[in-house]
Amino acid sequence: MKNFINYKSFIAKTQFGLENVLAGELEKYGAKNIKIMNRAVGFEGNKELLYTANLSLRTALRILVPLSSFNISNAGNLYKKTFAVNWVKFINPNKTFMIESVVNSKLFKHSKFPSLKVKDAIVDKIRESRGKRPNINTVEPDIKIHLHIQNNSCRIFLDSSGESLHKRGYRLEGFTAPLNETLAAGMILLTGWNGDSNFIDPMCGSGTLVIEAAMIAMNIAPNLNRNNLGFMKWKDFDNELFNNVKNKLTENQKELKIKIYGSDKSSKAVNIAKKNAQRAGLSNKIILERKNFTDVDKIGGNGLIVTNPPYGERIKERNLNNLYKNFGDVLKQKFTGYDAWILSSDKEAMKNIGLKTSKRLTLFNGALECKFYNYKLFKGPLKKSKTAQ
Ligand SMILES: C[S@@+](CC[C@H](N)C(=O)[O-])C[C@H]1O[C@@H](n2cnc3c(N)ncnc32)[C@H](O)[C@@H]1O
Repeated sequence: MKNFINYKSFIAKTQFGLENVLAGELEKYGAKNIKIMNRAVGFEGNKELLYTANLSLRTALRILVPLSSFNISNAGNLYKKTFAVNWVKFINPNKTFMIESVVNSKLFKHSKFPSLKVKDAIVDKIRESRGKRPNINTVEPDIKIHLHIQNNSCRIFLDSSGESLHKRGYRLEGFTAPLNETLAAGMILLTGWNGDSNFIDPMCGSGTLVIEAAMIAMNIAPNLNRNNLGFMKWKDFDNELFNNVKNKLTENQKELKIKIYGSDKSSKAVNIAKKNAQRAGLSNKIILERKNFTDVDKIGGNGLIVTNPPYGERIKERNLNNLYKNFGDVLKQKFTGYDAWILSSDKEAMKNIGLKTSKRLTLFNGALECKFYNYKLFKGPLKKSKTAQ
């Protein structure tokens, strides 16, 4: 199949704090020249890798393909240099498109203005050569273009993912403050776990962490069932290659050899988690129960706990300090041998956990800055954290 796009260098976008795990994922799939950037990772590969990456990466939000980059000094310039791109190669006049822009430049007072200029240039160029123009669709465009302007530097990309890759499709319902799927997967990968020991989330809400954990343990590509990836609307979409990539990923799936357990005190949350697990095709792989965390027991001698308890800003819980103290006590009394990780934005409440923190990473849950705390629950006397003493 003839390629219209240069399938060589790509940029996978992610969220703050997940750049290194994303780079690790890319390495696993054979990406070359991996470069860590700010909330993104640059890499090189080919068309097959681009398809594989979109279906498989757990911590990428979208993958962009660079189309053109140039310097600009004003809006006229931006129009002219965008017009110079051979847009008919990428967009048919009967397709729709939209532009998503990130503009950080003194050249423009209004951030929407440059994307209007770019839109005009694309439409004019296609009309000039094909006698017909493509329409704009900001809801479900066939082709999504990204415009990044930083001072004088302008870069234009094609979005190979379309809808963000965190939308795996299994979570139609969320309970209060569900985690973004990409963040949930990133949290699990940051712990270094690869599905070799039991996994517990005793405050599982809508089940995002347990579902992502099951997919990691079984090597299931999280977007294997997505049929609305951006590149599927491109002129050079290779359906045969796409099916081969999907078959290969399916063959690489593994049986689940460990236990994955989620519970929540709310029966509504557990019902939602069950429905989400079912949509992910994992209902017989994940144990889900309504339980207060005080009644949860460990499974086996060691394992991993990853959870995000309620925190003040997003969930109105009375007496959060008590909840965190009780949770710390449960970890101490019942989970020796386990590795526990807690995501929370509530530094005050976290002081009540009363365990020595062995790692503290910064992550963002939406716009909310959180810390991801690690507690190694070794056998033997446990030291109290300095803050809790
Ligand atoms: C921030 S939400 C978790 C969201 C979840 N990670 C998701 O992606 O949907 C916190 C959860 O803790 C649960 N919770 C609060 N207190 C609890 C307790 N004592 N025992 C068990 N679950 C509790 C709440 O019902 C809520 O579902």
